[in-house]
Amino acid sequence: MLPYPPFQSGEMGFALRARAFFFEGGIMRSVEWHEDRVRLIDQRLLPAEFRLLELETVAGVAQAIRDMAVRGAPAIGATAAFGLALAAQRSPAQDSQALLRDLAAAADLLRAARPTAVNLAWALERVMGRVQRENDPQRMRAVALAEAQRIADEDVQINRRLGQVGAALVPDGATILHHCNTGALATVDYGTALGVVRAAHEQGRRVHVLVDETRPLLQGARLTAWELQQAGIPFTLIADNAAGHFLRTGQVDLVLVGADRVAANGDVANKIGTYKLAVVARENGIPFYPCVPTSTIDLATPTGDDIPIEERPAEEITDLTFKGQPIAPPGVPVANPAFDITPHRYITGIITEHGIARPPFEQSLAHLVDQARRNADGQ
Ligand code: MRU
Repeated sequence: MLPYPPFQSGEMGFALRARAFFFEGGIMRSVEWHEDRVRLIDQRLLPAEFRLLELETVAGVAQAIRDMAVRGAPAIGATAAFGLALAAQRSPAQDSQALLRDLAAAADLLRAARPTAVNLAWALERVMGRVQRENDPQRMRAVALAEAQRIADEDVQINRRLGQVGAALVPDGATILHHCNTGALATVDYGTALGVVRAAHEQGRRVHVLVDETRPLLQGARLTAWELQQAGIPFTLIADNAAGHFLRTGQVDLVLVGADRVAANGDVANKIGTYKLAVVARENGIPFYPCVPTSTIDLATPTGDDIPIEERPAEEITDLTFKGQPIAPPGVPVANPAFDITPHRYITGIITEHGIARPPFEQSLAHLVDQARRNADGQ
């Protein structure tokens, strides 16, 4: 069993019998504002159990991000934004300065929850930036929630546009190798790399996904397989170690992954194991595309070496079981980096909602980020 530390009293969890999922127009998004709280799907228990968490404190939201009840860069960005809105609603501050101090403390707590995905800091800065333009506390509370809601709504629209951009690269009959989970669960809805797969499928193209199990937390086996099964998209689950075999034997047409942060030079931080895939894809002449919203591009981080890599608890590896028994002797030394860096030279292109960045990435990424800014400013 993975460690699931108990939530603070007041944080509610409840299970639903749910076969139907929450894709756009369906039951719910991966995270949303519900009445006066943050409600999200507890991804730790899937696919065995569909459980919702309702979070009433900012500490509870930070813990849900840290413990990966919610995970995936865009999803934790939206969750953090709602967490900050929650902090604003719950703060007893009577004046704007006191409220700003409470929000700064809440933002620090949320930002520290997971260090690699830049979407988390990006979303917090966006909400803070909007709040700082007001000076009436009640108005500040209202704009914090409205901005968080806007971030969540935009995420869905961005993913749909990204899906259309990327689907143009997917030929009919394509086999796509995919790592981790980048679907509706990893975003607010629809997904990034899996959004591309979904868009190609919706356009009537025949696609088949090779789903990496993605050790140690098995986001591929548990979450991606679950999402694809519900969407009716053909797939085959493979052991992580099998990916090289499929790439070398001509059974893969392209590799699609997500990213937690893209540095200014095009280096990409993503789920541990991505680097190996990119190198083997290049060795075999297979295109390799990270798929990201422009909010995942961090022009302030020059290269992948400047991206902090999160180290996760040893128990995530040692608590896995094989035939009901622990997979390792007790007390073994463990290293558990959650992400790796894929140097930009292995990347064919980076698919975004505003188009595909191609090498040289310094220029193409800066251009796409500029385009996203202009778009946001209504130019
Ligand atoms: O540790 P996780 O499960 O949060 O890691 C998720 C990934 O690495 C995803 O590929 C990335 O966040 C992009 S999700 C659209």
